[in-house]
Amino acid sequence: MSLLTIALPTGRTAKQAASVLEKAGIRFPDYHSKTRKLVMLDETKTIQLILVKTADLPTYVEKGAADIGMIGKDVILENQPDVYELADLHIGKCKVAVAGFPNQSLKVDGPLTIATKYPVITESYFEEKGISIETIKLNGSIELAPLIGLSDVIVDIVETGTTLKENGLIVLAEMMDVSTRLIVNKARFSTKTEQIESMIEKRKKALE
Ligand code: PRP
Repeated sequence: MSLLTIALPTGRTAKQAASVLEKAGIRFPDYHSKTRKLVMLDETKTIQLILVKTADLPTYVEKGAADIGMIGKDVILENQPDVYELADLHIGKCKVAVAGFPNQSLKVDGPLTIATKYPVITESYFEEKGISIETIKLNGSIELAPLIGLSDVIVDIVETGTTLKENGLIVLAEMMDVSTRLIVNKARFSTKTEQIESMIEKRKKALE
């Protein structure tokens, strides 16, 4: 049997995603939340785990470098990879929101400047609202942008709300709820159907 490769994102959901696999009886002896190892095998040596940067994960699955991936709906909507989205894992739950200073208006003279990791999601949301914007693409520490005058507001994920609070910012508008999804490479879903379905089945049983 060929190896089944599963990609998990490094960062905050990795631990939860690894625990979904563990509950399904798929254990990676070398995995722990602080590991710097990027590729590891499960106990049966039939499943390979790779740890990749969150924003890159859709590419690994779309190109077939990984057969399966676990990734946030926010990243899927932003990257729109050509993959199958097979299940909601009900972990990594958070909101995508517009945030800024208390009492701040989204109506400004000229375009509203928005710092975000999510320019695609942001542009589509504000286009629908008929609000003219200019996005500034950043890769992290988004909350810093309005504090130092780089943007009027931000669009980012909010999970506990701690980062906003500690920086004197609040949610001005909730855009959508997101959670971690299971995505599968389209061609591999045909060639490795049995292995992929067995993994999905194990996960479902673990939830029951
Ligand atoms: C994410 C996001 C927010 C924060 C929200 O950043 O971009 O900054 O988490 O979480 P909270 O509501 O629980 O505070 P992440 O931790 O992924 O780091 P980053 O700034 O490097 O993107």
